[in-house]
Amino acid sequence: MFPLRVRIMVDKALVDKIKQLKQRRNAVILAHYYQRPEIQDIADFVGDSLELARKAAGTGADVIVFCGVHFMAETAAILSPDKTVVLPVLTAGCPMADMVTAEALRARKAALPGFEVVTYVNTSAEVKAESDICCTSANAVKVLKSLPLGQDVLFVPDRNLARYAAQQAGRDVTSWPGYCPVHDQLRVEDIDLCLEKHPQAKVLVHPECRPEVIALADAVASTSGMLRYARESDAREFIVATEEGLIHQLRKQCPGKEFYPASDKLICENMKLTTLDALARSLEELAPAVTVPPTVRERALRAVERMLSFV
Ligand code: 13P
Ligand code: SF4
Repeated sequence: MFPLRVRIMVDKALVDKIKQLKQRRNAVILAHYYQRPEIQDIADFVGDSLELARKAAGTGADVIVFCGVHFMAETAAILSPDKTVVLPVLTAGCPMADMVTAEALRARKAALPGFEVVTYVNTSAEVKAESDICCTSANAVKVLKSLPLGQDVLFVPDRNLARYAAQQAGRDVTSWPGYCPVHDQLRVEDIDLCLEKHPQAKVLVHPECRPEVIALADAVASTSGMLRYARESDAREFIVATEEGLIHQLRKQCPGKEFYPASDKLICENMKLTTLDALARSLEELAPAVTVPPTVRERALRAVERMLSFV
């Protein structure tokens, strides 16, 4: 569907136009590691969910163009309400974030009095507003460890991350039955097949994957954690069990090392909706803008700010 591994010819005139528009608008372009290579290459900053939230909170630009999915732009709008936050394609959503609504979470909280609600950043602003603290895959273990021993926890919405982080933190958590459709479809057989072809390769697995896939990992890490591991490792070959966009960045940052996608199914279609054309249009029109109503924002901000206090 998406010719992602075919190197596309980047339109130089379009790239120049984006650069000019960016200056004219005093804009910063933030891109997630799952974005198309040409989007990663034109961004001012490429990062994981936590790093991008920090950049959005600290930028001096007037406009934040978020090349990612809707919850990421919303998090930027929660953190920087005075900036214009633009998501080049408004329909770029996250199916996992859609697996929990504020209404459903309120009902679950009513049934679980005294529970601390730990919410993955991959959720809507309304869901964050119902939460005590947010986390990303990069700091979920630290967030859980920070809670008092014996504290009951509801972890929303990723059941796979919940299980992995709880195990690492030595805590029991009750998890929401959500999952990332991209990572959750990966199977043990996919990894076995890759290891048959590349027996020396280290296996890097994102914690959004199923427990039986995580069990095969040499390293379980967020996208930024995988980059760090690959840079610092003496190994020359790696099987990468996360969305395939990260491979562009791994190859850029680790020349001379080989990276193999764990499966050709690991493509987040929502992340691939952002194209250079859409990016140029969004800078020209300063639209679609993403905003969060002040009453929701104030409550969501508490949970997001608590998240940012963890490295
Ligand atoms: P990280 O970049 O935080 O590892 O996030 C993975 C993800 O699925 C983002 O949508
Ligand atoms: Fe959502 Fe998964 Fe896509 Fe990330 S990779 S945006 S969690 S569907």
